[in-house]
Amino acid sequence: MVEKVVAVDPAVLAGLDNYVNLPKVQQPAWSNETAVAEVRDELAKLPPLVFAGEVDILRSRLAAAASGKAFLLQGGDCAETFADATADRIRNRVKTILQMALVLTYGASMPIIKMGRMAGQFAKPRSSDTETRDGVTLPAYRGDIINGYDFTAESRNPDPRRILQAYHTSASTLNLIRAFTTGGFADLRSVHEWNKGFADNPANERYLAMASEIDRAIKFMAACGADFEQLRTTEFYTSHEGLLFDYERPLTRIDSRTGTPYVTSGHFIWIGERTRQLDHAHVDYLSRVRNPIGVKLGPTTQVEDVLNLIEKLDPNREPGRLTFITRMGAGKIREELPKLVEAVRDSDANPLWITDPMHGNGITTKNGYKSRRFDDVMDEVRGFFEVHRALGTFPGGIHIELTGDDVAECLGGSEMIDEASLEDRYESLCDPRLNHMQSLELAFLVAESLRNR
Ligand code: PEP
Ligand code: CO
Repeated sequence: MVEKVVAVDPAVLAGLDNYVNLPKVQQPAWSNETAVAEVRDELAKLPPLVFAGEVDILRSRLAAAASGKAFLLQGGDCAETFADATADRIRNRVKTILQMALVLTYGASMPIIKMGRMAGQFAKPRSSDTETRDGVTLPAYRGDIINGYDFTAESRNPDPRRILQAYHTSASTLNLIRAFTTGGFADLRSVHEWNKGFADNPANERYLAMASEIDRAIKFMAACGADFEQLRTTEFYTSHEGLLFDYERPLTRIDSRTGTPYVTSGHFIWIGERTRQLDHAHVDYLSRVRNPIGVKLGPTTQVEDVLNLIEKLDPNREPGRLTFITRMGAGKIREELPKLVEAVRDSDANPLWITDPMHGNGITTKNGYKSRRFDDVMDEVRGFFEVHRALGTFPGGIHIELTGDDVAECLGGSEMIDEASLEDRYESLCDPRLNHMQSLELAFLVAESLRNR
């Protein structure tokens, strides 16, 4: 059968380029616009990274989470780097997310939607355009897709060729994710394998005890003649902040089945706290594509902002279309979140609410590191569940910065990471991430909260 191909409406294409005329913040100051145009042309000819059909399935999964029937686990680096896109590091991140998802599925008896901040999380918003060290001022590091982290004029100069490197790095990362999650590695009969290579610690012991219970249950079911084909593979989605138009626009493609645009650089795209102005380019652009969209909401968010964002990004109130990612800070969530959730609950909208317990809890340590206290992270998660329980709404997911590696970037956890440890094992170029053990500990807490929801 020949698939019906729908003609593209010129107004749709013109609409996609409307962002050009709108205010936009957090874009690099490229020095050579011709080179940028060449890169965009080249990128526009390269294959999509994700497909419309997958994006549509994800939207239906998120719709289930918005109505309390599933839970979203979204995690990965604050900023991916080209240097860290190695097989080992990608595998460790995927394993960490699979382990967390297992803890959540088993602990809360609930389907978990697995999503990486991976295969495209290369552009970063910054609080200042420049950075000064010892009297020298250079452009701020904006992520590997734009410039280099080394503090030299050459490295910090925005280089558009990096956009193509980001695309190819995303493609190889996604290829490995797809291989891991569909090629047998994610088989639920190998839950013990996912723990191999991680250091011994209390969270791992707890995980292994749970993995043994699951093994026993699976063996029991197998002895009863159950068919486990379903356990062999798992769905795994990718996401990143949709920040850089010179990347997202060339990778936006029109779906031939429906004539609608999809961003094909990742399944789920979110708008950051700094770029969610209603009349600015990012909100306009993402209002025009079919992907499920997230919006970060910080502690100063007003009810009106939220209702306006719903109207603009989800005018049809489509289940799974819109996710609010709240990042209030542990000290503010119980005060600031209820009014937003209550107003939305009492409207005709049903977005998915998830918690980002990382970005409202930043501190700078005495020895100069950007860090977060694990206790604050846990407390914001608890606050998120409390608020939703009190209002009768669904706490639908969690968004975290994590790595599978044994770093020391966030303070505390049962390994009791202190400020001095940061000096030896701090690797992030941007925000501090939970390490493998802290990620598992958090998963156990969330599983408990979900059980008592
Ligand atoms: C991020 O997710 O890394 C980030 C910059 O978040 P926010 O937009 O919430 O500050
Ligand atoms: Co971050």
